[in-house]
Amino acid sequence: MGTQDSQEKVLKTMPARDVRGLVTQDNVEYSIDEQTIVAQGGMAVIRRGECIINGQHIPAIFKEARPNWNNPSSSEYAAVEHKLRNEARFLSALTYSCQNTEHFPRYLGYFTSHSGVSYLAMEVINGDTLDNDLKDGKALKLFDAVVYAYQIAQALVWCHLATNEEGKPNPIFHKDVTPKNIMITRGSYHATLIDFGASFSEGISTGATMPFVTHTHAAPVSVTGAAEDIWQLGVTLFVMVTGVYPFDKSPYSEDRLDYEDLNYDALIEANIPTELINVILKALESSRRYQYKSMADFRDDLGNVLKSLPMDPDFAAWMNSEQSQVPICLQKLFPDNITRPEKTRPVGSKTRPVGA
Ligand SMILES: Nc1ncnc2c1ncn2[C@@H]1O[C@H](COP(=O)(O)OP(=O)(O)OP(=O)(O)O)[C@@H](O)[C@H]1O
Ligand SMILES: [Mg+2]
Repeated sequence: MGTQDSQEKVLKTMPARDVRGLVTQDNVEYSIDEQTIVAQGGMAVIRRGECIINGQHIPAIFKEARPNWNNPSSSEYAAVEHKLRNEARFLSALTYSCQNTEHFPRYLGYFTSHSGVSYLAMEVINGDTLDNDLKDGKALKLFDAVVYAYQIAQALVWCHLATNEEGKPNPIFHKDVTPKNIMITRGSYHATLIDFGASFSEGISTGATMPFVTHTHAAPVSVTGAAEDIWQLGVTLFVMVTGVYPFDKSPYSEDRLDYEDLNYDALIEANIPTELINVILKALESSRRYQYKSMADFRDDLGNVLKSLPMDPDFAAWMNSEQSQVPICLQKLFPDNITRPEKTRPVGSKTRPVGA
């Protein structure tokens, strides 16, 4: 402990512990850098470290159950821990049931340390959250916004298609799709959905209620399940392309929100093409009759809009750069735009959980 080096990186190693309902692996050790805090949320602290799986060192992010109020009681701590454990179950279910994990962090384990603190370990996503690009009413380049929304729609399609241990459908609804919970990998067009801390699935709930869900993105109370994720991605896309929120009034009500409540002028002022306006309006439709029937329909329409836009030269260059790892959904959408010889990413990369 004495030297400066060891003080900078005090690592704690602990074995994985079995938790019912979670996939755990033998021969896993976790080392957490206790000195640095990456982020501090209401219920958790985010730290860096690594997982050692069968001798392989994998950089990891650790979400530590830690209420941000003073002297939490044991029942309050238990509630926070319960929420984190269910978040771990969602990430575990996604990691093990999805065809690929390109748009959310891979689950690396859930455990309780010797001192009784619970942690969720997951893959590190290199980049920044999308809200950093939307400060002070700034909008994104239209092409970029649709590229990101398309990938998050793909992530949510996987969530809604998740299955349980028996392979039966067990959809996961994210319930907090906002720019704060979307990470963009630096120097790349890759978008990742994080933070399943408010999610819901039949039989598992993090117990998050309205106050946990980001207020400006909350859907009307009648919009639930897949429709709620569609709505929230619609709000997120609206903010990405205009820099402002679609609704002035809070949608926390039974009332159906009508188009007159929506800031339509913002879409016109931002010169949004009609096809994209129609897609956004269909996502922000509070009647089930008119809203998208599924996230897959929403994703497909976003894909059609993307293909109808003039190809962005930066995006085209990125797709063809040797270093870039183009997500499979974008490869499929633009099969003719990748002209570099090796069209596909390395087999197995991000398509299987580590150690599986
Ligand atoms: N897998 C990851 N890789 C890299 N950074 C991450 C990862 N997961 C979370 N973070 C960072 O930690 C922050 C908080 O994570 P998360 O949203 O899961 O927690 P939270 O408790 O809900 O926090 P908040 O209340 O700020 O939303 C993220 O905004 C991001 O900067
Ligand atoms: Mg969050």
